[in-house]
Amino acid sequence: MTSRSSSRATSGSTAFRVLGLESSCDETAAAIVENGTVVRADVVASQDEVHGRYGGVVPELASRAHILNVVPVLEAALDRAGITLAEIDGIAVTNAPGLVGALLVGLQTAKSIAWVTGKPLVGVHHLEGHLTAIYLEPDPPPMPHLALIVSGGHTSLVRVNDHGSMIELGATRDDAAGEAFDKGAKLLGLGYPGGAVLDKLAQTGDPTAIAFPRSMTGGEHGEEFSFSGLKTSLLHHVRAHGVPEAQALADLCASYQAAIIEVLVRKTRRAARKHGLQHVQVCGGVAANSALRAALRAAGAEDGFKVYVPPPARCTDNAAMIAAAGYHRLVRGERDGLDLNAAPTSPLARSA
Ligand code: KG4
Ligand code: ZN
Repeated sequence: MTSRSSSRATSGSTAFRVLGLESSCDETAAAIVENGTVVRADVVASQDEVHGRYGGVVPELASRAHILNVVPVLEAALDRAGITLAEIDGIAVTNAPGLVGALLVGLQTAKSIAWVTGKPLVGVHHLEGHLTAIYLEPDPPPMPHLALIVSGGHTSLVRVNDHGSMIELGATRDDAAGEAFDKGAKLLGLGYPGGAVLDKLAQTGDPTAIAFPRSMTGGEHGEEFSFSGLKTSLLHHVRAHGVPEAQALADLCASYQAAIIEVLVRKTRRAARKHGLQHVQVCGGVAANSALRAALRAAGAEDGFKVYVPPPARCTDNAAMIAAAGYHRLVRGERDGLDLNAAPTSPLARSA
């Protein structure tokens, strides 16, 4: 279990404290955030050890691990923030999208707390959470801005008009960028989840060593992505040449990663230009990738847009981002009832 809190000053008695809960995939997380900006506690229990031996998330095992972890994680967050449940002002919980059994654990916990405490409850879309993580940082992007969401389950370009008001411009037709990292890493025997390991190995490799395909980069594909061909291309390469070792493995990782990053960066800079947006954030687990962060910053410096990226621990799943997104919904007066359900495949799309 990891635990962090912010050193930024709290705002005294006027603070509106939101408890955030997240259990959509393989992280059980609870956080306390004040006024949508100040993190008082941020606790994440990862299930990497549970799923690692299977090479991917096993939904039933994820649900069971969430059941075991959710109360200890919640207690740790309250303890870290030095408050009791009676001192929270609202509850925000991820209710979509994700693994249904996993989502239901956080949702049922949140509903029980809302029922017992009488505090308002609001459901949060997981991607809206990712989009809000950057507002926990000192210099967040103004509205409107462009967002590149790159996670294990999603890859999309989004025009963010305001909190809770966004338009998805395009998304992946098949694998997500994180999936491309994870499936590639699995093929190379790097374990699960493989994104961070591949990132590290790639740092000492030559990204031009092997020419992997850059899919759907032509303007006619707009903001849509495709990564399944790249994964197949790596499979063919490994079948033909085997998995190399030492420097050759680093070169292979760097070349494979470069293909993912080049597509993401080319499409993001084209979308920023097309939609006239000078502020661009990147969020979701793959935003932790060091080469992607550097490449987007370089593109921004060349094209004249400013790039915003949360710190790595707030790129991957956490509940602070859910609490922050829930805060904006709660202060707008939004409330969900105790009949709030999990929506495993809900799209992000919201009208402007
Ligand atoms: O946002 P996230 O924690 O969960 C989902 O909402 O899916 O993203 C997890 C994904 C995984 O595919 C993981 O391999 C990838 O983010 N990831 C990375 C890095 N750190 C995590 N991918 C590339 N480079 C990294 N450093
Ligand atoms: Zn996520």
